[in-house]
Amino acid sequence: MPLLDVSRLRVDLRTHRGSAPAVRDVSFALERGDTVGLIGESGCGKSMTALALMGLAPDNATVSGSVRLHGQELVGLPDRDWRRLRGNRIAMIFQEPMTALNPVHRVGAQIAEPLALHRGMTARTARTRAIELMQRVGIPEPAQRVDSFPHQFSGGQRQRLMIAMALACEPDLLIADEPTTALDVTVQKQILALIRELVQERGMALVLISHDLGLVAQNVRRMLVMYGGSVVESGRADEVFGHPAHPYTRGLLAARPSLAQRLHARREDRLPTIAGTVPDLFGLPPGCPFAGRCPFTEEPACSAEPPPRVELSPTHAFKCRRAEVVLHASNSIAACA
Ligand SMILES: Nc1ncnc2c1ncn2[C@@H]1O[C@H](COP(=O)(O)OP(=O)(O)OP(=O)(O)O)[C@@H](O)[C@H]1O
Ligand SMILES: [Mg+2]
Repeated sequence: MPLLDVSRLRVDLRTHRGSAPAVRDVSFALERGDTVGLIGESGCGKSMTALALMGLAPDNATVSGSVRLHGQELVGLPDRDWRRLRGNRIAMIFQEPMTALNPVHRVGAQIAEPLALHRGMTARTARTRAIELMQRVGIPEPAQRVDSFPHQFSGGQRQRLMIAMALACEPDLLIADEPTTALDVTVQKQILALIRELVQERGMALVLISHDLGLVAQNVRRMLVMYGGSVVESGRADEVFGHPAHPYTRGLLAARPSLAQRLHARREDRLPTIAGTVPDLFGLPPGCPFAGRCPFTEEPACSAEPPPRVELSPTHAFKCRRAEVVLHASNSIAACA
């Protein structure tokens, strides 16, 4: 039995404009020590998927399908049961550490809190454990800094502290939603290396979320490419990154800034993007969500009918009605290169 088994996960959002699917038909499974990446542009449903896996979908959301942790069904669990799982067997790290760290509490106490809550540790044992965790995530002189406040640490160190907090109870599943987007490239690499090491060391399963296809590819075994709430391509990281099949995945790869651009970019600089905009969830066509932006679209079929799943290898598949044409185009590009 896999550690985590997500099957046909769906999140519908009710708004004043009606109901819209923010996540549709997302399926994947993870063993211990296994890693999967969710990638896609802003608004494609990555965070909503993560929130559904944490039992934190917003009040106006209806989550359906199945999420099993060690065989236990989590969809539909009462809040009381979710609270027992979160921070304990499932933990999450976010882009902005200050969403998890409380500015007015000492960091050691914050790392120790889940240990007291879920493991019933005494304050003293939990504090010792907090210092060990700070050490493990690379905070220098943790015994001296355990009583400092979050603002006394750098951005990268705060990210490390949030990781320490997430790891305190040795969760089975770690969900990292854009964990390094706000950091410099060098710090980004260090934090991702730390996450990778910890996942291996503790046999956790990791869901890593980012809009950066290359960054995800370097840090996970499998990838799911999301667009308009659904998975348009999935495969081993080397397959999706090395031989992207879906026109959307190829667009993401082409729009990726070079390392030099990233080193010199200011955080507020916009990244290059694929032509067109992410579809409005309310205006999604019944067919392929990418039809309106795709250079290979053949209407009315592409917008009208759900695209078939095309298998490229036992582990690599994409959803496209025009697969033959699309793949032929990619072969001729490869031949010219
Ligand atoms: N509470 C909400 N009510 C209605 N719509 C929402 C709510 N939260 C998110 N959405 C919508 O759900 C869709 C998916 O959002 P989500 O946050 O999952 O995107 P994302 O892929 O994480 O994007 P980003 O890269 O910007 O973080 C978006 O269209 C968003 O506008
Ligand atoms: Mg998000």
